[in-house]
Amino acid sequence: MENNQYIYMDHAATTSVHPEVVEVMQPYFSEYYGNPSGLYSMAQEARSSIDQSRKIVSNFLGCRPSEVIFTSGGTESDNLAIKGSVFGNTFNGKHILTTSIEHHAVLNSCYQLEQMGFEVEYVNPNSDGLINPQDIADRINEKTVLVTIMLVNNEIGTIQPISKISEIIKQKSNEYGHDVIFHTDAVQAIEFEEVDVKKLGVDLLSISAHKFGGPKGVGVLYVRRNIPFEALQVGGGQERERRSGTENVPGIVGLAKAISLLDYRKQSSKKHCRFLRDRLIQGISNKIPDTILNGHPTIRVDNNVNFCFEGIEGEPLLVGLDFSGIFASSGSACSSGSLEPSHVLTSIGRSPQLAQSSLRLTIGHNNTEKEVDFVLDKLVELVSKLRSMPTL
Ligand SMILES: Cc1ncc(COP(=O)(O)O)c(C=O)c1O
Repeated sequence: MENNQYIYMDHAATTSVHPEVVEVMQPYFSEYYGNPSGLYSMAQEARSSIDQSRKIVSNFLGCRPSEVIFTSGGTESDNLAIKGSVFGNTFNGKHILTTSIEHHAVLNSCYQLEQMGFEVEYVNPNSDGLINPQDIADRINEKTVLVTIMLVNNEIGTIQPISKISEIIKQKSNEYGHDVIFHTDAVQAIEFEEVDVKKLGVDLLSISAHKFGGPKGVGVLYVRRNIPFEALQVGGGQERERRSGTENVPGIVGLAKAISLLDYRKQSSKKHCRFLRDRLIQGISNKIPDTILNGHPTIRVDNNVNFCFEGIEGEPLLVGLDFSGIFASSGSACSSGSLEPSHVLTSIGRSPQLAQSSLRLTIGHNNTEKEVDFVLDKLVELVSKLRSMPTL
């Protein structure tokens, strides 16, 4: 890219912190740094900023402020949602339903629970990455205590029919005479999808601030009131005894600011990212032979592009793009560095070899049409160069 600039197309991995978010966080490091549990005025300022932030989050999610728990991010929210709800609910059974394409924060929590004697079933999606609600209906049983299914997949962007699945779960709960708790990981959905807990029909929902212009290391878990729930982290009793630990005040204030900025930006950002996404998808499909789009062609989040390029490996492609100042990802950022093929791509039927040839480009509202065209040209050049190289 000209002038030593770079093109960032890895917004599903993380986003830059919005300047207005940095600005509102600043005083809570150096001016109002009091512990929110303190009784003096400086500490009370910190406490009231948490209360204010909680209101902003609860308005956004359509829930009560008391149903919002601040956490250290998406990973903690997922762990707390899954383990906190099943530990609080073992008297109803030990069966959990999830999918084979969840983020590792969910999958590894489930593997841990299996070691502890819980039974977990992993439902497979179809070849577009969509979960069929009927498969959930067929596998749920009277011992099921939790269903956890992500709203938007972080690798291929497919949007799951959460409210349809919720209807099934409610029907089954009535049949069994106990609540089957429903959790969704909405970490990748916040910037683009409507995330109203009542419309979605979920009991638990995870958010992470750094995916939408907020700081890293802070997130939210929505916990519907009255659901059986056990804290994992105990101590000073913060967050209504559900997540002890001195609150990350600057982070919480920053998360709330990022949410309030989202609210007015959402429609224009959605349209812009979708336009660039489609330009990139069409460009790659038309200009590069033997490519396969991963994820549903239309039921996908507005900023996700994910392709497999037959005959090459994703790693050298990423390196070549990096060399041209383009930052992208193969599979999810959390698993890059590992040579394992993506569990999401193998779940939708890609062979391990084809899965290794994948590239994920995730667009942000600051990306431009010119950048998309530059990325396209570079991709055409790189894929053809890599395909022409002799294999060892
Ligand atoms: C779907 C999903 N869930 C959970 C996480 C983990 O969030 P965090 O990085 O805040 O721990 C991520 C991060 O990539 C994600 O994409």
